Amino acid sequence: MTQLVLDRVQLAYENESTGASFLALSNVAFTIDRGEFVTIVGPSGCGKSTLLMLIAALLKPTSGDLRLNGAPITKPGSDRALVFQDFALLPWRTVIANVELGLELKGVARKARRETARRYVSMVGLKAFENAYPHQLSGGMRQRVGIARALGVEPEVLLMDEPFGALDAQIRQVMASELLRIWERDRKTILFVTHDIDEAIYLADRVIVMSASPGRIIEEIAIDLPRPRDLSVRNTPRFVAWRERIWNLLEAQIRGSGSWEQSDVEPVVAR
Ligand SMILES: Nc1ncnc2c1ncn2[C@@H]1O[C@H](COP(=O)(O)OP(=O)(O)OP(=O)(O)O)[C@@H](O)[C@H]1O
Ligand SMILES: [Mg+2]
Repeated sequence: MTQLVLDRVQLAYENESTGASFLALSNVAFTIDRGEFVTIVGPSGCGKSTLLMLIAALLKPTSGDLRLNGAPITKPGSDRALVFQDFALLPWRTVIANVELGLELKGVARKARRETARRYVSMVGLKAFENAYPHQLSGGMRQRVGIARALGVEPEVLLMDEPFGALDAQIRQVMASELLRIWERDRKTILFVTHDIDEAIYLADRVIVMSASPGRIIEEIAIDLPRPRDLSVRNTPRFVAWRERIWNLLEAQIRGSGSWEQSDVEPVVAR
């Protein structure tokens, strides 16, 4: 069942002092079904974060429509939660109190808040660290607090902007598997931005590939691998073929854009 619809969405950033306008997204259109896990890849600066901010209604589109369950998206709401790379945990609050924050903002009463927060802290495997402060946790654990906080408000749609970007490769794989485990239990709709192509395929029901700036969608690839998945799927012929396909699409975008011509460094897509 269709849950989220983007129809001919354009976003131009206006520079108030110069009056100049910069087109960040041109004509983005897609739909997402309830409970679907969709990942987005695209060259740096193509507008992926901008896209998530539009869905969270932290930005308004210059033109086009965004709809959630048939109703226009006009303002931020607890039906959508955005998880950033740095999670913005409050250092003076314990793990449980950080997870409760979203519920406080939603106006949930103290007792119910604590119960819900406990459930999500356990779900991400941090029960033993409920009363720890962020500085006492590893990067991966802080990450999980951020995810628990976002899940705790029970949004219909979870928007994740490179949530594993700051983690090293091994922790990242573990986190991806954990996120899948949580999602398989919870089945919230997830829209997940990443630079890591393997991660994009491994997690997704569908990978959306964006063009270089101004961003638009150049391809949508259905990843019909059975679930639950484990990391060994990365070696299967279909996985390898998807990886190749996405590499090629991104490489063409980066080479075709001005940033590549002007750059004297090796492209990030070098294999
Ligand atoms: N507030 C702003 N004002 C003007 N331009 C902006 C603003 N925010 C972003 N941009 C520009 O819009 C484009 C898209 O930015 P965005 O952050 O959405 O890209 P991205 O795909 O998330 O990039 P990355 O992969 O590096 O995170 C970029 O060219 C960026 O410079
Ligand atoms: Mg970004």
